Amino acid sequence: MAGLGFVEFLVAVIVFILIRYWRLNRYTPMLNWPVVGMLPSLLLNVSTIHEYLNSVLKLHGGTFMFQGPWLTNMDMVFTCDPMNVRHITSTKFDNYGKGSHFRDIFEVLGDGIFRSDSHVWKYNRTTLHSIYKQTSFQLFLHRTIERKVDNCLLPFLDHAWTEGVHVDLQDAFQRLTFDNICSLVFGYDPNCLSIELPEVACEKAFSQAEDTLFYRHVKPSFLWKLQEWLQIGNEKKFKENQKILNHWVYAEIKSKRRNSTNIESQFDLLSVLIREEGQNDDQFLRDTAINLLAAGRDTISAGLTWFFWLVATHPLVEAKIVEEIRENLPSRDVVNWKDLGVEGLNKLVYLHGAISEALRLYPPVPNEHKCALNSDVLPSGHKIKPNTIIVYSLYSVGRVEETWGEDCLEFKPERWISKRGGIVHVPSYKFIAFNAGPRSCLGKDMSFTEMKMVAAAMIWNYHIHVVDGHPISPSISVILHMKHGLKVRVTKRGV
Ligand code: HEM
Repeated sequence: MAGLGFVEFLVAVIVFILIRYWRLNRYTPMLNWPVVGMLPSLLLNVSTIHEYLNSVLKLHGGTFMFQGPWLTNMDMVFTCDPMNVRHITSTKFDNYGKGSHFRDIFEVLGDGIFRSDSHVWKYNRTTLHSIYKQTSFQLFLHRTIERKVDNCLLPFLDHAWTEGVHVDLQDAFQRLTFDNICSLVFGYDPNCLSIELPEVACEKAFSQAEDTLFYRHVKPSFLWKLQEWLQIGNEKKFKENQKILNHWVYAEIKSKRRNSTNIESQFDLLSVLIREEGQNDDQFLRDTAINLLAAGRDTISAGLTWFFWLVATHPLVEAKIVEEIRENLPSRDVVNWKDLGVEGLNKLVYLHGAISEALRLYPPVPNEHKCALNSDVLPSGHKIKPNTIIVYSLYSVGRVEETWGEDCLEFKPERWISKRGGIVHVPSYKFIAFNAGPRSCLGKDMSFTEMKMVAAAMIWNYHIHVVDGHPISPSISVILHMKHGLKVRVTKRGV
């Protein structure tokens, strides 16, 4: 009894201390608890994680040290200070790699470009870069997207208009970009975007895998690794999805090798890798394919979704885009968006500005991970020890008032237009949506081409209305999707 009394007393003292601690610090957005550190604050705010991190970063002048639970190795530095970002991505590039934490979480990417460092990364990057810049690949890209938009996206929207049904634009874009990236990587179109909205196993497996990858970021690694080992929870599903993806990708590679006579006339990435680079390592092809699918599918669809929501809620911007397309069509009598051609598309400066603005406010990749090799001091004065994880928030870098001005939260494509009518150049460590330095996105130009084609075709032909009362908020994922999709009503322009 006496022992129990002591235990009760001890518990009461601990509870008293914790309550007092909470009362003294309750207005601190990232409360540092004994033993569990700041993790509870992070988990409590996980549903609004990007906004939450943004407010914490603002409060701390752009950089703060996150302390994880004891013995979990979860301490991290968060930053959105552009000078720190430049330092990490460019000036001291060699000191900041992906690190073992990232490699553990993203094991599914194999030795592909996203997950590799040093010479493996360099080999991946040089190989892909040499393919992307080929004129034949650029033409193939343009043709593939144009065909997809004309044959699938516009008929899909036309059906929604004639039937008067609401559609989830985010889902449509996920399907569209999955079809496009599969065509570019494999030369095969799984036709996910059609009026029937079919369920395609590989597409579903891909989407579900991403959700698990996000949760691996916010759980202590011993926990998700235990779940993985025991094969329970979302780690079990992850394993199943991984099997589906591997099976599918290897089947595509096999079929490509089997049809080697056709390969000469094909410009998809796998064909080019096999034909021109003499690639006979199926594991390398698998890793490259998975990395490119991850790179080019969700990023563009998330970017398009936020862009269309912003345009739908800013009618003046929409009117200016329509006017710009009209001015750049070769003749006033022409009514087909395709007549813009590559040249016309390149002249759509205002549209380019509007897309950049959407990517600034809603970067499809909201956070980036790096791991310090050696000790260092950031330009902000924060000391970095070896193996420290640094997360720079792309979401917050796009909302830094010192860079973008007091109106930084407003959607203003005009901020991208120079006095002479061109696009204002913003250094990549400030406009960070495509990352900066030697690891900046290889698909930036490709993304602008695809997004401009989709935007021009849709806005020229249709008016998009967001369904009244539809909730808009970011999802919890490694990609900044919309949590509830984007439900819209479509009407034909000029009818
Ligand atoms: C709006 C669309 C896109 C956005 C916002 C975007 C953003 C990014 C970001 C933030 C990174 C850095 C990732 C990291 O280091 O962890 C990156 C890297 C990369 N992106 Fe993109 N991306 C987009 C589209 C694409 C497309 C369509 C492709 C090509 C299929 C592509 C290919 C790549 C590749 C290969 C890298 C790795 C670069 C390296 O590590 O050297 N991206 N992208």
